[in-house]
Amino acid sequence: AERVFSGVQPTGNLHLGNYLGAIVKFVELQRTHDCIYCVVDLHAITVPQNPLELKASIREVTAAFIASGVDPSQHIIFNQSQVAEHAELAWVFNCVARMGWLNRMTQFKEKAGKDRENASVGLYAYPCLMAADILLYRATHVPVGEDQKQHLELARDIAQKFNLDYAASIAANGHGEAFFPLPEPLIQGPATRVMSLRDGAKKMSKSDPSDYSRINLSDDADAIAQKVRKAKTDPEPLPSDVEGLAKRPEADNLVGIYAALNGETKPEVLKTFGGANFSAFKSALVDLAVAKIGPIGAEMKRLKDDAAYIDGVLTDGAARAKLIARENMAAVKDILGFVR
Ligand code: TYM
Repeated sequence: AERVFSGVQPTGNLHLGNYLGAIVKFVELQRTHDCIYCVVDLHAITVPQNPLELKASIREVTAAFIASGVDPSQHIIFNQSQVAEHAELAWVFNCVARMGWLNRMTQFKEKAGKDRENASVGLYAYPCLMAADILLYRATHVPVGEDQKQHLELARDIAQKFNLDYAASIAANGHGEAFFPLPEPLIQGPATRVMSLRDGAKKMSKSDPSDYSRINLSDDADAIAQKVRKAKTDPEPLPSDVEGLAKRPEADNLVGIYAALNGETKPEVLKTFGGANFSAFKSALVDLAVAKIGPIGAEMKRLKDDAAYIDGVLTDGAARAKLIARENMAAVKDILGFVR
Protein backbone atom coordinates (compact mmCIF):
# COMPACT_ATOMS: atom_id res chain seq x y z
CA ALA A 1 0.00 0.00 0.00
CA GLU A 2 1.12 3.55 -0.65
CA ARG A 3 1.90 5.73 2.33
CA VAL A 4 3.07 9.34 2.52
CA PHE A 5 5.56 10.57 5.11
CA SER A 6 7.23 13.95 5.46
CA GLY A 7 8.82 16.08 8.14
CA VAL A 8 9.47 19.71 8.97
CA GLN A 9 12.04 20.98 11.46
CA PRO A 10 10.81 23.12 14.35
CA THR A 11 13.49 25.78 14.00
CA GLY A 12 11.41 28.96 13.81
CA ASN A 13 10.33 31.22 10.92
CA LEU A 14 8.27 28.81 8.85
CA HIS A 15 8.18 30.50 5.47
CA LEU A 16 6.65 30.52 2.02
CA GLY A 17 9.30 28.05 0.77
CA ASN A 18 8.27 25.49 3.39
CA TYR A 19 4.64 26.11 2.51
CA LEU A 20 4.88 25.90 -1.30
CA GLY A 21 7.66 23.29 -1.38
CA ALA A 22 6.11 20.95 1.17
CA ILE A 23 3.03 21.84 3.22
CA VAL A 24 0.72 22.56 0.25
CA LYS A 25 1.56 19.07 -1.04
CA PHE A 26 0.84 17.58 2.39
CA VAL A 27 -2.67 18.97 2.14
CA GLU A 28 -3.24 17.73 -1.43
CA LEU A 29 -1.98 14.20 -0.76
CA GLN A 30 -4.52 13.70 2.02
CA ARG A 31 -7.20 13.12 -0.59
CA THR A 32 -5.44 10.10 -2.11
CA HIS A 33 -3.12 8.65 0.54
CA ASP A 34 -2.67 7.74 4.18
CA CYS A 35 -0.35 10.48 5.40
CA ILE A 36 2.03 10.88 8.34
CA TYR A 37 3.44 14.36 9.00
CA CYS A 38 6.16 14.73 11.58
CA VAL A 39 7.60 17.69 13.47
CA VAL A 40 11.22 16.54 13.54
CA ASP A 41 12.48 17.79 16.89
CA LEU A 42 15.31 15.22 17.03
CA HIS A 43 16.66 16.78 13.85
CA ALA A 44 16.42 20.27 15.32
CA ILE A 45 18.95 19.54 18.08
CA THR A 46 21.71 18.68 15.59
CA VAL A 47 22.47 22.39 16.00
CA PRO A 48 22.12 24.36 19.26
CA GLN A 49 18.53 25.17 20.33
CA ASN A 50 17.06 27.20 23.13
CA PRO A 51 14.69 24.77 24.94
CA LEU A 52 11.90 27.31 25.44
CA GLU A 53 12.03 28.42 21.80
CA LEU A 54 12.14 24.79 20.65
CA LYS A 55 8.98 24.01 22.55
CA ALA A 56 7.23 27.03 21.00
CA SER A 57 8.48 26.06 17.51
CA ILE A 58 7.19 22.48 17.81
CA ARG A 59 3.75 23.86 18.58
CA GLU A 60 4.06 26.47 15.83
CA VAL A 61 4.84 23.90 13.11
CA THR A 62 1.95 21.76 14.36
CA ALA A 63 -0.34 24.80 14.19
CA ALA A 64 0.93 25.57 10.67
CA PHE A 65 0.07 22.05 9.47
CA ILE A 66 -3.45 22.32 10.88
CA ALA A 67 -3.99 25.93 9.76
CA SER A 68 -2.91 24.97 6.24
CA GLY A 69 -5.50 22.21 6.10
CA VAL A 70 -3.90 18.99 7.34
CA ASP A 71 -6.65 17.06 9.15
CA PRO A 72 -5.30 15.33 12.27
CA SER A 73 -8.45 13.24 12.66
CA GLN A 74 -7.90 11.57 9.27
CA HIS A 75 -4.09 11.59 9.14
CA ILE A 76 -1.24 11.55 11.64
CA ILE A 77 0.54 14.63 12.98
CA PHE A 78 3.11 14.06 15.74
CA ASN A 79 6.52 15.10 16.97
CA GLN A 80 9.41 12.75 16.38
CA SER A 81 10.78 12.53 19.93
CA GLN A 82 7.52 10.98 21.17
CA VAL A 83 8.16 7.85 19.12
CA ALA A 84 11.47 6.43 20.34
CA GLU A 85 11.69 4.00 17.42
CA HIS A 86 12.93 6.86 15.20
CA ALA A 87 16.16 7.02 17.18
CA GLU A 88 16.36 3.23 17.39
CA LEU A 89 16.06 2.67 13.64
CA ALA A 90 18.44 5.58 12.99
CA TRP A 91 21.12 3.67 14.92
CA VAL A 92 20.58 0.61 12.74
CA PHE A 93 20.91 2.83 9.66
CA ASN A 94 24.11 4.38 11.03
CA CYS A 95 25.44 0.84 10.71
CA VAL A 96 24.04 0.35 7.18
CA ALA A 97 25.09 3.67 5.61
CA ARG A 98 28.73 4.10 4.60
CA MET A 99 30.96 7.01 5.66
CA GLY A 100 31.55 7.72 1.98
CA TRP A 101 27.85 8.20 1.37
CA LEU A 102 27.50 10.74 4.16
CA ASN A 103 30.69 12.52 3.10
CA ARG A 104 28.95 13.45 -0.16
CA MET A 105 26.00 15.22 1.52
CA THR A 106 26.05 18.85 0.41
CA GLN A 107 23.74 20.04 3.19
CA PHE A 108 26.19 18.84 5.84
CA LYS A 109 28.99 20.72 4.12
CA GLU A 110 26.89 23.89 4.00
CA LYS A 111 25.65 23.65 7.57
CA ALA A 112 28.96 22.61 9.11
CA GLY A 113 30.81 25.34 7.23
CA LYS A 114 34.54 25.73 7.70
CA ASP A 115 34.62 24.50 11.29
CA ARG A 116 33.77 20.90 10.49
CA GLU A 117 35.70 19.52 13.48
CA ASN A 118 33.20 21.31 15.68
CA ALA A 119 29.99 20.11 14.00
CA SER A 120 27.91 17.67 16.04
CA VAL A 121 28.05 13.98 15.19
CA GLY A 122 24.26 14.27 14.93
CA LEU A 123 24.53 16.83 12.13
CA TYR A 124 26.73 14.39 10.21
CA ALA A 125 24.40 11.42 10.81
CA TYR A 126 21.29 13.54 10.15
CA PRO A 127 20.43 11.81 6.82
CA CYS A 128 20.36 8.40 8.54
CA LEU A 129 17.76 9.71 10.99
CA MET A 130 15.78 11.12 8.08
CA ALA A 131 15.88 7.73 6.34
CA ALA A 132 14.69 6.14 9.58
CA ASP A 133 11.76 8.60 9.79
CA ILE A 134 10.50 7.53 6.38
CA LEU A 135 11.31 3.81 6.48
CA LEU A 136 10.03 3.27 10.03
CA TYR A 137 6.57 3.56 8.44
CA ARG A 138 7.65 1.85 5.21
CA ALA A 139 6.45 5.02 3.47
CA THR A 140 6.46 5.02 -0.32
CA HIS A 141 6.08 8.73 -1.16
CA VAL A 142 7.79 11.75 0.37
CA PRO A 143 6.72 15.30 -0.57
CA VAL A 144 9.68 17.68 -0.11
CA GLY A 145 11.36 20.72 -1.63
CA GLU A 146 14.26 20.39 -4.06
CA ASP A 147 16.85 20.84 -1.27
CA GLN A 148 15.95 17.43 0.23
CA LYS A 149 16.51 15.47 -2.98
CA GLN A 150 19.96 14.21 -2.05
CA HIS A 151 18.76 13.06 1.37
CA LEU A 152 15.95 11.12 -0.31
CA GLU A 153 18.45 9.41 -2.60
CA LEU A 154 20.43 8.39 0.47
CA ALA A 155 17.26 6.99 2.08
CA ARG A 156 16.73 4.88 -1.04
CA ASP A 157 20.35 3.68 -0.93
CA ILE A 158 19.95 2.70 2.73
CA ALA A 159 16.69 0.83 2.05
CA GLN A 160 18.29 -1.00 -0.85
CA LYS A 161 21.44 -1.95 1.06
CA PHE A 162 19.42 -3.19 4.04
CA ASN A 163 17.22 -5.27 1.72
CA LEU A 164 20.32 -6.77 0.05
CA ASP A 165 22.50 -7.29 3.13
CA TYR A 166 19.69 -9.04 5.00
CA ALA A 167 17.95 -10.67 2.03
CA ALA A 168 18.14 -14.19 3.45
CA SER A 169 16.86 -13.16 6.86
CA ILE A 170 14.12 -10.98 5.34
CA ALA A 171 12.87 -14.00 3.40
CA ALA A 172 13.27 -16.35 6.39
CA ASN A 173 11.14 -13.98 8.47
CA GLY A 174 8.36 -14.12 5.93
CA HIS A 175 8.76 -10.68 4.33
CA GLY A 176 9.52 -11.91 0.82
CA GLU A 177 12.22 -10.26 -1.29
CA ALA A 178 12.43 -6.82 0.32
CA PHE A 179 11.46 -5.37 3.67
CA PHE A 180 11.71 -1.65 2.90
CA PRO A 181 10.16 0.05 -0.14
CA LEU A 182 12.39 2.50 -2.03
CA PRO A 183 10.71 5.79 -1.11
CA GLU A 184 9.95 8.16 -3.97
CA PRO A 185 10.50 11.88 -3.59
CA LEU A 186 7.58 14.04 -4.76
CA ILE A 187 9.22 17.27 -5.95
CA GLN A 188 6.83 18.91 -8.38
CA GLY A 189 5.37 22.18 -9.53
CA PRO A 190 6.63 25.75 -10.02
CA ALA A 191 7.96 26.35 -6.48
CA THR A 192 10.15 23.42 -5.43
CA ARG A 193 12.99 25.83 -4.67
CA VAL A 194 11.72 29.22 -3.51
CA MET A 195 14.51 31.78 -3.45
CA SER A 196 15.24 34.69 -1.10
CA LEU A 197 13.30 37.87 -1.91
CA ARG A 198 16.56 39.81 -1.49
CA ASP A 199 18.83 37.62 -3.61
CA GLY A 200 17.67 35.32 -6.40
CA ALA A 201 20.79 33.19 -5.99
CA LYS A 202 20.04 32.24 -2.37
CA LYS A 203 17.40 29.84 -1.12
CA MET A 204 14.62 31.28 1.05
CA SER A 205 15.61 30.03 4.49
CA LYS A 206 14.57 30.10 8.13
CA SER A 207 18.02 31.22 9.17
CA ASP A 208 18.55 34.20 6.82
CA PRO A 209 19.27 37.16 9.12
CA SER A 210 17.11 39.46 6.97
CA ASP A 211 13.39 39.02 7.61
CA TYR A 212 12.83 40.76 4.26
CA SER A 213 14.34 37.72 2.55
CA ARG A 214 11.27 35.61 3.29
CA ILE A 215 7.51 35.68 3.79
CA ASN A 216 6.79 33.96 7.09
CA LEU A 217 3.57 32.00 7.44
CA SER A 218 2.88 34.11 10.52
CA ASP A 219 3.21 37.44 8.63
CA ASP A 220 0.14 39.68 8.55
CA ALA A 221 -1.12 41.47 5.45
CA ASP A 222 1.02 44.58 6.04
CA ALA A 223 4.22 42.57 6.42
CA ILE A 224 3.47 40.51 3.32
CA ALA A 225 2.76 43.66 1.28
CA GLN A 226 5.95 45.39 2.42
CA LYS A 227 8.14 42.38 1.72
CA VAL A 228 6.73 41.80 -1.77
CA ARG A 229 7.05 45.52 -2.65
CA LYS A 230 10.67 45.55 -1.47
CA ALA A 231 11.53 42.27 -3.19
CA LYS A 232 14.53 42.62 -5.49
CA THR A 233 13.74 42.74 -9.22
CA ASP A 234 15.40 43.89 -12.43
CA PRO A 235 14.34 46.93 -14.51
CA GLU A 236 12.83 44.98 -17.47
CA PRO A 237 9.10 44.26 -17.77
CA LEU A 238 8.02 40.63 -17.41
CA PRO A 239 8.73 38.42 -20.44
CA SER A 240 5.93 36.68 -22.30
CA ASP A 241 7.46 33.19 -22.13
CA VAL A 242 9.56 31.14 -19.68
CA GLU A 243 12.66 31.32 -21.88
CA GLY A 244 12.61 35.03 -21.09
CA LEU A 245 13.08 34.19 -17.40
CA ALA A 246 16.52 32.66 -17.99
CA LYS A 247 19.25 34.70 -16.26
CA ARG A 248 16.56 36.68 -14.41
CA PRO A 249 16.49 34.71 -11.13
CA GLU A 250 14.45 37.27 -9.15
CA ALA A 251 11.77 37.54 -11.84
CA ASP A 252 11.73 33.76 -12.21
CA ASN A 253 11.27 33.35 -8.47
CA LEU A 254 8.35 35.78 -8.19
CA VAL A 255 6.62 34.24 -11.20
CA GLY A 256 7.07 30.78 -9.66
CA ILE A 257 5.64 31.97 -6.35
CA TYR A 258 2.64 33.52 -8.09
CA ALA A 259 2.06 30.36 -10.13
CA ALA A 260 2.24 28.07 -7.08
CA LEU A 261 -0.03 30.27 -4.97
CA ASN A 262 -2.59 30.47 -7.76
CA GLY A 263 -2.40 26.80 -8.77
CA GLU A 264 -1.05 27.73 -12.22
CA THR A 265 2.07 27.06 -14.28
CA LYS A 266 4.69 29.73 -15.04
CA PRO A 267 3.64 29.96 -18.74
CA GLU A 268 0.07 30.61 -17.63
CA VAL A 269 1.20 33.40 -15.32
CA LEU A 270 3.26 34.94 -18.12
CA LYS A 271 0.29 34.77 -20.45
CA THR A 272 -1.48 37.13 -18.04
CA PHE A 273 1.48 39.32 -17.00
CA GLY A 274 3.90 39.21 -19.97
CA GLY A 275 4.85 42.80 -20.81
CA ALA A 276 3.62 44.15 -17.46
CA ASN A 277 6.04 46.06 -15.29
CA PHE A 278 6.95 44.82 -11.84
CA SER A 279 4.89 47.35 -9.92
CA ALA A 280 1.69 46.02 -11.52
CA PHE A 281 2.78 42.39 -11.10
CA LYS A 282 3.80 42.95 -7.49
CA SER A 283 0.42 44.49 -6.66
CA ALA A 284 -1.30 41.39 -7.99
CA LEU A 285 1.16 39.18 -6.10
CA VAL A 286 0.49 41.07 -2.85
CA ASP A 287 -3.27 40.53 -3.24
CA LEU A 288 -2.78 36.84 -4.00
CA ALA A 289 -0.27 36.22 -1.19
CA VAL A 290 -2.40 38.07 1.36
CA ALA A 291 -5.47 36.08 0.28
CA LYS A 292 -3.65 32.72 0.55
CA ILE A 293 -1.18 33.23 3.41
CA GLY A 294 -3.04 35.78 5.54
CA PRO A 295 -5.74 33.36 6.77
CA ILE A 296 -3.12 30.72 7.64
CA GLY A 297 -1.22 33.19 9.80
CA ALA A 298 -4.43 34.27 11.51
CA GLU A 299 -5.44 30.68 12.22
CA MET A 300 -1.92 29.87 13.52
CA LYS A 301 -2.24 32.80 15.92
CA ARG A 302 -5.60 31.52 17.14
CA LEU A 303 -4.26 27.97 17.63
CA LYS A 304 -1.18 29.30 19.41
CA ASP A 305 -3.33 30.29 22.36
CA ASP A 306 -4.64 26.76 22.62
CA ALA A 307 -1.55 24.76 23.62
CA ALA A 308 -3.76 22.08 25.19
CA TYR A 309 -5.39 21.38 21.83
CA ILE A 310 -2.07 21.34 19.97
CA ASP A 311 -0.42 19.05 22.53
CA GLY A 312 -3.46 16.79 22.35
CA VAL A 313 -3.09 16.48 18.58
CA LEU A 314 0.61 15.59 18.96
CA THR A 315 0.04 13.02 21.70
CA ASP A 316 -2.85 11.38 19.86
CA GLY A 317 -0.79 11.34 16.63
CA ALA A 318 2.21 9.85 18.43
CA ALA A 319 0.08 7.04 19.84
CA ARG A 320 -1.16 6.17 16.34
CA ALA A 321 2.30 6.47 14.80
CA LYS A 322 3.72 4.29 17.56
CA LEU A 323 1.44 1.38 16.60
CA ILE A 324 3.00 1.24 13.14
CA ALA A 325 6.51 2.04 14.36
CA ARG A 326 6.52 -0.67 17.02
CA GLU A 327 5.46 -3.38 14.63
CA ASN A 328 8.02 -2.43 11.98
CA MET A 329 10.83 -2.02 14.51
CA ALA A 330 10.08 -5.47 15.95
CA ALA A 331 10.32 -6.91 12.43
CA VAL A 332 13.66 -5.13 11.89
CA LYS A 333 15.00 -6.62 15.14
CA ASP A 334 13.98 -10.10 14.05
CA ILE A 335 15.63 -9.56 10.67
CA LEU A 336 18.85 -8.34 12.34
CA GLY A 337 18.92 -11.36 14.67
CA PHE A 338 18.33 -9.50 17.92
CA VAL A 339 16.75 -11.51 20.74
CA ARG A 340 13.55 -9.95 22.11
P1 TYM B 1 13.14 21.69 6.57
O1 TYM B 1 12.54 21.76 7.93
O2 TYM B 1 14.38 22.46 6.29
O3 TYM B 1 12.07 22.13 5.49
C1 TYM B 1 10.75 21.61 5.49
C2 TYM B 1 10.29 21.40 4.06
O4 TYM B 1 10.33 22.64 3.35
C3 TYM B 1 11.08 22.49 2.15
N1 TYM B 1 11.77 23.76 1.88
C4 TYM B 1 11.67 24.44 0.73
N2 TYM B 1 10.97 24.20 -0.39
C5 TYM B 1 11.05 25.11 -1.39
N3 TYM B 1 11.80 26.25 -1.31
C6 TYM B 1 12.52 26.52 -0.20
N4 TYM B 1 13.23 27.65 -0.11
C7 TYM B 1 12.46 25.60 0.89
N5 TYM B 1 13.04 25.56 2.12
C8 TYM B 1 12.61 24.44 2.71
C9 TYM B 1 12.06 21.38 2.45
O5 TYM B 1 12.54 20.80 1.26
C10 TYM B 1 11.21 20.44 3.27
O6 TYM B 1 10.41 19.61 2.43
N6 TYM B 1 15.44 17.22 6.58
C11 TYM B 1 14.17 17.90 6.42
C12 TYM B 1 13.14 17.44 7.45
C13 TYM B 1 12.92 15.97 7.50
C14 TYM B 1 12.22 15.18 6.57
C15 TYM B 1 12.25 13.85 7.11
C16 TYM B 1 11.58 15.44 5.36
C17 TYM B 1 13.34 15.15 8.51
N7 TYM B 1 12.93 13.88 8.28
C18 TYM B 1 11.65 12.81 6.42
C19 TYM B 1 10.98 14.39 4.68
C20 TYM B 1 11.02 13.08 5.23
C21 TYM B 1 14.37 19.39 6.62
O7 TYM B 1 15.29 19.82 7.24
O8 TYM B 1 13.35 20.16 6.14
